[in-house]
Amino acid sequence: MTRTTLTDRIPSRFPLLQAPMAGAQGSALALAVCAAGGVGGLPAAMLAPEALRAELQLLRAQAQGPWNVNFFCHTPPAPDDAAEARWRKALRPFYDEAGLDAASVPAGAGRQPFSEALADLIEPFAPPVVSFHFGLPAPELLARVKSWGSVVLSSATTVEEARWLEAHGADAVIAQGLEAGGHRGMFLTRELGTQLGTFALLPQVVAAVKLPVIAAGGIADAAGVRAAMALGASGVQVGTAYMCCPEASTSAVHRAALLSEAARHTEQTTLFSGRPARGIVNRLMRTLGPLNPAAPAFPTATAAIAPLRAHFEAQGLGDCSPLWSGQNASGCRAVPAAEITAALALGLA
Ligand SMILES: Cc1cc2nc3c(=O)[nH]c(=O)nc-3n(C[C@H](O)[C@H](O)[C@H](O)COP(=O)(O)O)c2cc1C
Repeated sequence: MTRTTLTDRIPSRFPLLQAPMAGAQGSALALAVCAAGGVGGLPAAMLAPEALRAELQLLRAQAQGPWNVNFFCHTPPAPDDAAEARWRKALRPFYDEAGLDAASVPAGAGRQPFSEALADLIEPFAPPVVSFHFGLPAPELLARVKSWGSVVLSSATTVEEARWLEAHGADAVIAQGLEAGGHRGMFLTRELGTQLGTFALLPQVVAAVKLPVIAAGGIADAAGVRAAMALGASGVQVGTAYMCCPEASTSAVHRAALLSEAARHTEQTTLFSGRPARGIVNRLMRTLGPLNPAAPAFPTATAAIAPLRAHFEAQGLGDCSPLWSGQNASGCRAVPAAEITAALALGLA
């Protein structure tokens, strides 16, 4: 066991967290990482209540050591027909090419924020760790989560966000550098120019807060773990490197992209959800521009993309798929998650 201020709070064998990755994994990956001595994470943002309950039952029954369940904390936008129409117009050439009718696709949210109803659902499971992206829930809701003894984590993308999380009750802060795959956890700013790389952000967050700090973004091997710990991290969270494991549910198209040269070129894009998220550059991003202003507010951009994604994936193409990846996909290997975890843990020795 490696002891840090993080393992004092979350007593796993290693202070290594598998990043919860909505749409790319479920309890199978989390359980495999827990069994290997890390902290497995279950992403809940895209799960319907019944599916979430079933996953939590598996984690409670089978997890060896502490596990994490993760939620988003966004405020859903009011329905906006004009924004939706602009978005469909921007996507029109892709709909035409696919022979699909944009008008027949229902608008929808796609991702639910944490709520009283979700708190009711998870309470009987008293998850050892609950992590949030995009801030924290309202104080009463957060107090409920903490009353079960859950350790609360959330992502900070700036020093200001880290200080805010400390002041509002987080038990540890995830310093999410700009290299990270998937959505930026930014919640006090919308300016991408404020976002720092992991090894610039991490030491500044460590200096600014008293809480344990978990480094995330671009860490893919033992040397990366060692470097993060040398810069003051109490633990490390890794996402992209787990995406090609057999226990992940990453699509075939996405796996192929992660293991190809294409993975060297990622960008922040708002096209797939409405919020900036890092993914491998594909045809939709090249054609519309990754930050096209026609993309509507998070998370409503997703609904109109879904049928395009399905159409092109059926042909083995990721042209309209969110190919989430961090800047460093070199750790992706099609090997069991235990192997990835053991390789990362060498950086703690
Ligand atoms: C496919 C994918 C999905 C993600 N989904 C979530 C999520 O649901 N919740 C969350 O807090 N973070 C999510 N993230 C971000 C991770 O928590 C983490 O910041 C990131 O994976 C770390 O960088 P790395 O990918 O370079 O290891 C996701 C990342 C990826 C790659």
